[in-house]
Amino acid sequence: MAIQKLVEGVFSVGVVDWDRRLFDELIPLPDGTSYNSYLVIGKEKTALVDTVDPEKSKELIDNLKRLKVEKLDYIIANHAEQDHSGTIPELLEIYPEAKVVTNPKCKGFLIDLLHISEDRFIEIENEGTLSLGGRTFEFIYTPWVHWPETMSTYLIEDKILFSCDFFGSHRATSSLFVQDEYKVIEDAKRYYAEIMMPFRNHIRKNIDKISLKEIKYIAPSHGPVYNNPDIIITAYKEWISEEVKNQILIPYVSMHGSTDAIVMKLVEIFTENGIEVMPFNLTKTDVGQLAMALVDAATLIIGTPTVLGGPHPSVVYAAYLVNALRPKLKMASIVGSLGWGGKTVDILTTIMKNLKVDFVEPLLIKGLPKKDDGEKIREFANIIIEKHKNMFKF
Ligand code: FEO
Repeated sequence: MAIQKLVEGVFSVGVVDWDRRLFDELIPLPDGTSYNSYLVIGKEKTALVDTVDPEKSKELIDNLKRLKVEKLDYIIANHAEQDHSGTIPELLEIYPEAKVVTNPKCKGFLIDLLHISEDRFIEIENEGTLSLGGRTFEFIYTPWVHWPETMSTYLIEDKILFSCDFFGSHRATSSLFVQDEYKVIEDAKRYYAEIMMPFRNHIRKNIDKISLKEIKYIAPSHGPVYNNPDIIITAYKEWISEEVKNQILIPYVSMHGSTDAIVMKLVEIFTENGIEVMPFNLTKTDVGQLAMALVDAATLIIGTPTVLGGPHPSVVYAAYLVNALRPKLKMASIVGSLGWGGKTVDILTTIMKNLKVDFVEPLLIKGLPKKDDGEKIREFANIIIEKHKNMFKF
């Protein structure tokens, strides 16, 4: 990646990963990503804030050589996950005087994950500071964005918040700063949905903490730098709020068209009653899109055939994911078709036990819906429509 100047003496030296399409072997990356690393030069000391995925270490090291960094005093580790920490061991070999600056919990993780020796660390505390000469870092513990050890580093004089995963977005771009605010908020929402959503209460406290600082730039470790930090802080406040939207999500699988017939009838009824409805055929859906929709929606209805005595395995995966992401849903239910029996409802409700929702009595129909089943579908839909009308006053 090109070296780009954020402000005088602060350079972006990280790497754009244009081709990466899967993160943590789980999360789709339709637009690639970046591993941002920032070189901060003081009058006396030089520091690197976060590193890059070890697969891209050469590009970071080449950038440091091009900037003629002969002595690196500090490597600030905001987060131990390897996409930011993985190049630390190589840098410690190249720069034998360098120390890894981090909090005690992150230090423990780095020792476990990367086998960095204890004597290479400087431990800092929450609100601790580190001077480079004319430039001072303040460390702010911001746990659970994304792991329990995560912290943000504030460069006091330049008013830059290096937030690592917090406020990040997965996009490969050559632009250092946000160019298209709509696009970056979409990217950041997807990122929030996939990684941050289970930690809403922690994020609320972290936003309160960073709001005490005057911030000119938020420089995350994925995606572009925000030169208008308000846009992302405002978006996060909306996502973590308890407010939901008048929306129904229906992730579903249909093997022979029966569940599809139920789902499409529901889509028709909800739409005609003024509710936004989003069906996600799980055999074709990017789960990131489903996760994004879960940020705002009021209601989830899972659609599944009964197969091998329970829900379709793709539905089991989606239900597990929904449960793990802990969205702020208010209502949930299950619909689907069955041939002769099974434990579909029991299995799915057990998987989704984290959800604190009003659980509407499921609707399972034998085989392809018949004419009188249409009435059952409408009755089921009406229960949910009435609840939405009460919730949204329409
Ligand atoms: Fe970008 Fe949690 O690592």
